[in-house]
Amino acid sequence: MTNYKTILAIESSCDETAAAILEQVDGSIKLLSSVVASSLQLQAKFGGVIPEQAAREQLKSIIPVISEALEIADKKIDQIDAIAVTQGPGLIGSLLVGVETAKTLATIWQKPLIPINHLIGHFYANWIEQSSAVSPQITVNTKLVAENRELKAESYSVPTFPAVGLLVSGGHTDLVYFKSASDYQYLGGTRDDAAGECFDKSARLLGLPYPGGPEIAKRAILGNPKHFNLPVPMLHSGDYDFSFSGLKTAVANLVKTVDLDDQTVNDIAATLQDTISAVLVKKAIQAVKDKQASCLMVAGGVAANQYLAAELQYQANRDHIPFYIPPAQYCTDNAAMIGAAAFFHPPVSSIFDVEANPNLGF
Ligand code: KG4
Ligand code: ZN
Repeated sequence: MTNYKTILAIESSCDETAAAILEQVDGSIKLLSSVVASSLQLQAKFGGVIPEQAAREQLKSIIPVISEALEIADKKIDQIDAIAVTQGPGLIGSLLVGVETAKTLATIWQKPLIPINHLIGHFYANWIEQSSAVSPQITVNTKLVAENRELKAESYSVPTFPAVGLLVSGGHTDLVYFKSASDYQYLGGTRDDAAGECFDKSARLLGLPYPGGPEIAKRAILGNPKHFNLPVPMLHSGDYDFSFSGLKTAVANLVKTVDLDDQTVNDIAATLQDTISAVLVKKAIQAVKDKQASCLMVAGGVAANQYLAAELQYQANRDHIPFYIPPAQYCTDNAAMIGAAAFFHPPVSSIFDVEANPNLGF
């Protein structure tokens, strides 16, 4: 871990503008504030993210969000030791707003700047001390996307290396082997759609609003996962890859053959959630065993799904694998995870060499 005590973090990779203040106390990472402004209501209206509109919303929100994060944390600028920012991947217009703001503030305030890969950042939500994570997450424009998972108030317990990480988000479904915080290896991932994309596209076919993941989760509670049959893609492929576009097509074909009444939508939602969870659980657990990792950690918006979390937890317990998943509100995009990651990454030597990178990978 770096020696910084207090970090201001900024995240603006897609349609959320977020800032957070985190503090390192005796080796644990406490969250002092986490503010997220989302243009979700706009996205819901158009059924998805429109990049130019998302960037415009980022510009409007970025300064108010940073000010609010400082205010809630009761920190003055001279109490901030470093600034962290999401460098990529994401939408270029959105990323630029966060990166250029962070560079400007770091220059004016004379603070070190720590660029963070958004994908890696997601995993570090698992390092936020959970008792501090209950501090209210204020949303500026809209309400929280994710449902609240009950927070554990137990002692600070974080993943240990080597770890296997499963990232499940709107754009990614990846398995990554972490030898250490800075030494990681991509094991496999989706060959087409991401798990979140499959939730979103299937929800649209079922007539549910965007983003589809939380809607499917809500409907699935009332559905029977065994009423319909959907193919479990690549369940036995023997590698760490996934494929979800065929599953979405199977939902499209199924929808054509049924009457989409409420119960049918619930049943299809439950089947879809169960099918996606089955393949994620199987491959993640297999990766931990193959790599002899000391734990499994999960991250990304889809990890906010309670059913998936419960299935992963159940299988990990059965196989005696320590399992880590962040509170649901820190699974979807936020700046707290970017700040937590920054405690494990060095600052750049030249601030103006940092550039937003929409295609940054593992
Ligand atoms: O990580 P994230 O907030 O943004 C990206 O970096 O992509 O993930 C967003 C994805 C969306 O596809 C959304 O539908 C999905 O996460 N999601 C969920 C749930 N909450 C969000 N999927 C399933 N169940 C949920 N409860
Ligand atoms: Zn994300």
